[in-house]
Amino acid sequence: MDNRAILDLLQVKNQDHIIHHVDRLPPNKKSKFFQNCNDLDLDLVFRLHNECCASKTTLSLRGNIKVPRIVSLPVRENERKSHYESKLVGESLISNGKVAVLIVAGGQGVRLGHNRPKGTFPVSPIMKKTLFQLLSEQVRALSFRYNAKIPLLIMTSVENHDDTVLFFDTHNFFGLDQNSVYFFQQGMLPTITPEGKLLLKDETSLFVNPDGHGGSLSALNKSGLLDMLMEQGFSELFYCQIDNPLVRIADPVFLGYHSQANSQCSTKVVRRQRIDEKVGVYVSLDGKDAILEYSDFGGKHMEALDDNGEILYWAGNTAIHIMNLSFVKTLNTHGFALPYHCANKNVEILDSKGTRKNVDAWKFETFVFDAIPFAERTCCMEVDRSEEFSPVKNKSGPDSPSTAHESMVKLHKRWLHDAGIIVPHERLVEISPLFSLDREELISKLKGTNMQVESDLYLA
Ligand code: UTP
Repeated sequence: MDNRAILDLLQVKNQDHIIHHVDRLPPNKKSKFFQNCNDLDLDLVFRLHNECCASKTTLSLRGNIKVPRIVSLPVRENERKSHYESKLVGESLISNGKVAVLIVAGGQGVRLGHNRPKGTFPVSPIMKKTLFQLLSEQVRALSFRYNAKIPLLIMTSVENHDDTVLFFDTHNFFGLDQNSVYFFQQGMLPTITPEGKLLLKDETSLFVNPDGHGGSLSALNKSGLLDMLMEQGFSELFYCQIDNPLVRIADPVFLGYHSQANSQCSTKVVRRQRIDEKVGVYVSLDGKDAILEYSDFGGKHMEALDDNGEILYWAGNTAIHIMNLSFVKTLNTHGFALPYHCANKNVEILDSKGTRKNVDAWKFETFVFDAIPFAERTCCMEVDRSEEFSPVKNKSGPDSPSTAHESMVKLHKRWLHDAGIIVPHERLVEISPLFSLDREELISKLKGTNMQVESDLYLA
């Protein structure tokens, strides 16, 4: 869009306050303003504002909700056998160079209140490794174990991109081949008042917000990385968020189930802990698998119990997925398919008098799990929360660094226990992904060693 077209659009959309502001800018700042606007989809935000005012919801809860089909934790012998067979299938996908890894790390991490990208937060119990290091080391260990190239794609936002790249650079990419690590930025969308007015962040830019983790599936396409991966023969994308230090990157069992179901979009779920736990819920909606945000799900369904008094819709979202790359491509074929959600936000802006003040505004974003209902074939697999899910969301309390720390120590103590090594209660343990990616590997390395643990133990 050229400058004239931007001004015309602002005029048509009654944004006189912005036009007056731009009129008063000196030429160099004026051109900076237009340059900043050029990267933004202004038409989209005005359309979304209209839709939001007309209260069009993205997923209708008037639909028919049922409990979906989910691969449960293996208990019986045949279930263990099926897990084992899936693992072999998943392992061959990795060894044959079919699997790429995407970590979304473009969020603002407001609740954690860490003033750098969330991935730079030190989280491991003894070595204080950052989230970026823990996850990168898993990718490195997997590449080594399966002698495979595993591209690592990291989605950032304009706000944290440079800092993220610098962090990897400074830490020598945590031992990864830097040619197989790709950073790409997610889109930003203007934030708008409920009355439909755009806001100024500063003299030369509109107030914007990242377009949500769903934006990863469109940014991947726009960046050209999706085509690059497909051309190189990769077919599956393991997706996770930066905030879960327990995530099992490219878990072969999960990959195997996904592949055997010929699934386009697969999800790992954990049992909801409480009726009021704030977690998205995996359900079948009008015959299609979907994840509903707890706020959209509503009390009646959220509180529903089965005949045994257990939570009926028990499957909580972990935000761990595998997507087929061709499926991701189809989501981008006629524009971007995912629906936008609107959220209220209080933001600090520059007003027309040049003073800073706080106003209530709407931000629009897409959620990656909204891809699920677009898939013709899906797969959902239950995992044990204590083994795979302990996100760092808040500064303290639930889902915080201290709960993640505790989960990591407990998990690694259980692995050691299974390898015949008892760790005294008061001692901390940490197992580097480079030492063992999982329980089985640890057992095979340590069984019969009679290791005595008398102080905190770090295995690397
Ligand atoms: P959250 O929704 O938990 O947001 O993102 P957040 O940014 O980490 O934290 P708050 O809500 O501001 O406190 C879950 C995952 O999705 C990524 C985040 O980086 C995190 O890995 N994300 C979220 C993006 O990459 N982009 C977004 O626009 C939003």
